[in-house]
Amino acid sequence: MTNSTSPDQRAAELRDQLHLYSHQYYVLDQPLVPDAEYDRLFRELQAIEAEHPELRSPDSPTQRVGGEPLSAFKTVRHEIPMLSLDNAFSEDELRDFDRRVRSRLADEQSFHYACEPKLDGIAASLLYVDGILVRGATRGDGQQGEDITENVRTVASVPLKLRGAGWPDELEVRGEIYLPRAGFEKINASAREAGNKLFVNPRNAAAGSLRQLDSRITASRPLEMCCYSIALRDDQQELVASHSEALEKLAQWGFLVSPLLKVVDDIDGCLAYYRDLLQQRDGLPYDIDGIVFKVDELAVQQTLGFVSRAPRWAIAHKFPAQEEMTTLKDVEFQVGRTGAVTPVAKLEPVFVGGVTVSNATLHNFDEIQRLGVMIGDQIIIRRAGDVIPQVVQVVEGKRPADARPILVPENCPVCDSPLEKPPGEAVLRCTGGLICGAQRREGIKHFASRKAMDIDGLGDKLVDQLVEAGLIETVADLFRLEASQLAELERMGQKSAENLVAALEKSKQTTLPRFLFALGIREVGEATARNLALHFTTLAALKSASEEALLAVTDVGPIVASHIHAFFAVAHNQEVIDALLAAGVHWPEIAQNVSAQPLAGQTWVLTGNLDRMTRSEAKEKLQALGAKVAGSVSAKTDCVAAGAAAGSKLKKAEELGVKVIDEEGLIAVLKQGGQL
Ligand code: IVH
Repeated sequence: MTNSTSPDQRAAELRDQLHLYSHQYYVLDQPLVPDAEYDRLFRELQAIEAEHPELRSPDSPTQRVGGEPLSAFKTVRHEIPMLSLDNAFSEDELRDFDRRVRSRLADEQSFHYACEPKLDGIAASLLYVDGILVRGATRGDGQQGEDITENVRTVASVPLKLRGAGWPDELEVRGEIYLPRAGFEKINASAREAGNKLFVNPRNAAAGSLRQLDSRITASRPLEMCCYSIALRDDQQELVASHSEALEKLAQWGFLVSPLLKVVDDIDGCLAYYRDLLQQRDGLPYDIDGIVFKVDELAVQQTLGFVSRAPRWAIAHKFPAQEEMTTLKDVEFQVGRTGAVTPVAKLEPVFVGGVTVSNATLHNFDEIQRLGVMIGDQIIIRRAGDVIPQVVQVVEGKRPADARPILVPENCPVCDSPLEKPPGEAVLRCTGGLICGAQRREGIKHFASRKAMDIDGLGDKLVDQLVEAGLIETVADLFRLEASQLAELERMGQKSAENLVAALEKSKQTTLPRFLFALGIREVGEATARNLALHFTTLAALKSASEEALLAVTDVGPIVASHIHAFFAVAHNQEVIDALLAAGVHWPEIAQNVSAQPLAGQTWVLTGNLDRMTRSEAKEKLQALGAKVAGSVSAKTDCVAAGAAAGSKLKKAEELGVKVIDEEGLIAVLKQGGQL
């Protein structure tokens, strides 16, 4: 703080800056400054407010962290009731809705439909007076809800203070508060670790987080709010002419609105939007349970009016449910590459999340206990996004008289070796190591996979076939396969057999990080394999490294070090490695002096199409030069290499003033580093 700035001036300055940065980060997804800079300014503001408590205003960013717990929520009356929506479950029902709308309008009255996702969260109302957030409330029964002001304040995408201009003195905004899938997985992962009760789905987790009397708990949950309407008072009807215009205004004032909003001409446009979003559904970062279609023009909305609790001008077209009930018929035990035994629920097939599901994971035996599930139970299955279907709940009161408990096996279902539960771990493991057919088979699948040896055409099914036919026992056997043997396998012709032999030959030229990753050493993922390769530079040096020497590698702790050490101490592993090298597996040398890595400490982003190599090849080469290669551009990015047809990442780099080079520039950097 300079002497010429008073604490109140500086506090105001910091508040504005922090509001701007968090709007850029949480609403626009375009960070302006590194997190550390935000944290520094935040702490400076906290310090000023601690010294001058009178400067601590309710719109200060420091008020997002939660405060003293309440004893109860107050009741809030909604001046304008919070309505709900009618549902359509089929194209026919949607067309009926459109007919009803048009039948109520004069022939010449033209209108559009605004289409947007129906977010699966909790409806909330925000009230701003003179641009400052003064109240947050739940929907409740639509007439009255609960005052959750302290909790909504902690939601990073809720503006504490409006941006821009033109907002009315009193503004009520409505939207959905939800938990993105990643946040949900994170909360449940830590609850699972702590042995606490899990949330069934992101919606329940969002509801549970908002129902907290202690707003510090709410603050610890990464909730978001997407706004979908302005509750217009009688004297505010002139503010906007359409729903889409209202959303545009909300965005200008700092609210998060759906980037997927689209205005279409007619019901066929709505159906096309529905189909498009249904395709995109699994890839979205949050759950949606359908599409909301609204007549866009407010004047037309007024003509149509309401019936009981729902407007006549809007409808929710629901997607197939992501949760369904079915019967648990049996539980099987699958043995993974590392010997971990996973209980898999065998289900009465059920249509959920758009596909028919007959298997779901039960994770581990602690999870079975936590769920209290028995064979024969009615259970709830959830399938959302690309995540494997999960068993989330037992339906209480529906247990049949002949339900059987799920018995924990003592021996490996594949090789009969004893199972063990290492202290502190939830998983049960097969002690058979490579005697176990399942572990070997999974190890071979991993070895062949794209990020490992990348053996084109050698998928999981083919590995199963090769093992079953007795053609391979270890990964080294792969390189002894001959086209004539392969051609005899079911569903394999001469041509595919030759292709596979060629792909195996090609895969022999690899990199040390890929090779190390492919070995399938426990806890050694792609990043660790890379760090090990860069640190030791040769396989010989890594193999003979002591646990202590391994600890010197970035991100390697005692557990990982002991797994690596143990792996190389096993004679069989050594034999397989020797056989692989003898078969001709090789990689280019890595520069001895790591500090000579020209891109050490830099973060790069690759975007667009490259002509000379694939993006993943470019990524590997940059990493070999010491760069970290990230998936998205931020203020922390050092350089963006943009190929042809680069899109939003390039735009963002330009906005943030990040250095951008084209493919030629990239090639020059790689050549200089000896990678080409
Ligand atoms: S509009 C008068 N738009 O769905 C219209 N609602 O079943 C009121 N919802 O309680 C709601 N996404 O919580 C609207 N884009 C969206 C929505 C949405 C989710 C929820 C909302 C409402 C429920 C209605």
